[in-house]
Amino acid sequence: MGEQLWGGRFSKSTDEMINEFQASIQFDKRMYHEDIAGSIAHARMLAKCGIISDDDCLKITDGLKAILTDIETGTFDFSVDLEDIHMNIEKRLTDKIGEAGGRLHTARSRNDQVALDTHIYVRRETAAVSRLILELQKAFAETARKYSDVIMPGYTHLQRAQPILFSHHMLAYFSMLCRDFSRFEGVYDRCDIMPLGAGALAGTTFPIDRQLVADQLNFSSVYANSLDAVSDRDYIMEFLSSASILMIHLSRISEEIILWCSREFAFIELDDAHCTGSSMMPQKKNPDVSELVRGKTGRVIGHLMAMLTTVKGLPLAYNKDLQEDKEGLFDTIDTIKFSLAVYAQLIRGMKVNREIMLKAVREDFSNATDLADYLVKKGLPFRQAHAVSGKAVHYCIEQHKWLEDMTMEEFKKLSDLFEPDIKEAIKPETCVKNRDSYGGTSYNQTQIQLASAEEILLKQ
Ligand code: ARG
Repeated sequence: MGEQLWGGRFSKSTDEMINEFQASIQFDKRMYHEDIAGSIAHARMLAKCGIISDDDCLKITDGLKAILTDIETGTFDFSVDLEDIHMNIEKRLTDKIGEAGGRLHTARSRNDQVALDTHIYVRRETAAVSRLILELQKAFAETARKYSDVIMPGYTHLQRAQPILFSHHMLAYFSMLCRDFSRFEGVYDRCDIMPLGAGALAGTTFPIDRQLVADQLNFSSVYANSLDAVSDRDYIMEFLSSASILMIHLSRISEEIILWCSREFAFIELDDAHCTGSSMMPQKKNPDVSELVRGKTGRVIGHLMAMLTTVKGLPLAYNKDLQEDKEGLFDTIDTIKFSLAVYAQLIRGMKVNREIMLKAVREDFSNATDLADYLVKKGLPFRQAHAVSGKAVHYCIEQHKWLEDMTMEEFKKLSDLFEPDIKEAIKPETCVKNRDSYGGTSYNQTQIQLASAEEILLKQ
């Protein structure tokens, strides 16, 4: 049957339902640009190596450029019968330019072609994701700078623990995103290897020059093993796992944003333009963006699981299962790019309620560690100091007061090591100022962290 590009050995055309089932054009058409760029590089290499004529090469490259315009102007009809983007373009090329089009696929297989297209696609999108991560980091650094003296309770077990600077909290997010950035840099490096020239699996009988293709497409290196070149999906698994970790970070941030803008916390207020209302309850202002990002995290993790499971049992080299690599990948790319972009806006639009945050520190016992540390500095072993401070907290709970409200007399009853300077030592500002160990929450340390964050951003 002559219908399919590979129809020679068949005596029947493919069943219509099977055709639709096995096609990937519905989703791989988004790699049209990469497919055309790859084919142009391949054709030029074939001509340079004397495998096709210069004349044919010119016809092919002109034809491919015309197809690019057709696709971009919406006059290209994608056909499910032609299975994927590779065959759709090749068929159109042959229709356009005749015999020369039929020479393009010399020394090439769809197996190495799809690998090439996906590498180019993922490499470009990885760079785009990295830029968006930086943009969000910038939003966190700006917010940290804007609210650099705001004190809030730091939490463990979601119980108020010790006073911290709000900017310190923002910079923790910044640090998390630094690791995401570097993970995507790693993905980029392992994606930056050129697979074409592997043929279907074993290389080719033609005297090709793979480096020439790599140079034209700006790849740093060439796959050293043809079997590996067509069956490697590590870069996709790595992309998806880096994306999952990134989304987990955004999801943890979301959880805090959602809590903080609840009436119970009221630490922050989101911009009206970033929230939605309720169709029934007129008073509502909901943090949908954060909830959705938290929700979409599951979807991205799902794509990672699907990909790992798909590849897990596959023998070398190409298997059609590998076609399943794309939908989850594309959806992940769209999801993380969108999530990063909206998050940068959300953070920039966020307003901080400094009084409420400070009140949450004052009306609690998050200075109890500082009370103990005070006694340690006066010579008491930490364990005993901890017990004295615990007793002070217990006493205050019974008396309905806070540590800061205790009189000198009350302090003295607990330990004669207490002097009038205890009052100063347990003020929230002092608690923050004194945590001056490297990476700590003091104004000093936070400024150092902020300066280094800003320097990282400047360098990128
Ligand atoms: N549509 C296929 C994919 O996305 C392209 C490679 C097909 N190769 C093959 N021998 N069927 O993986």
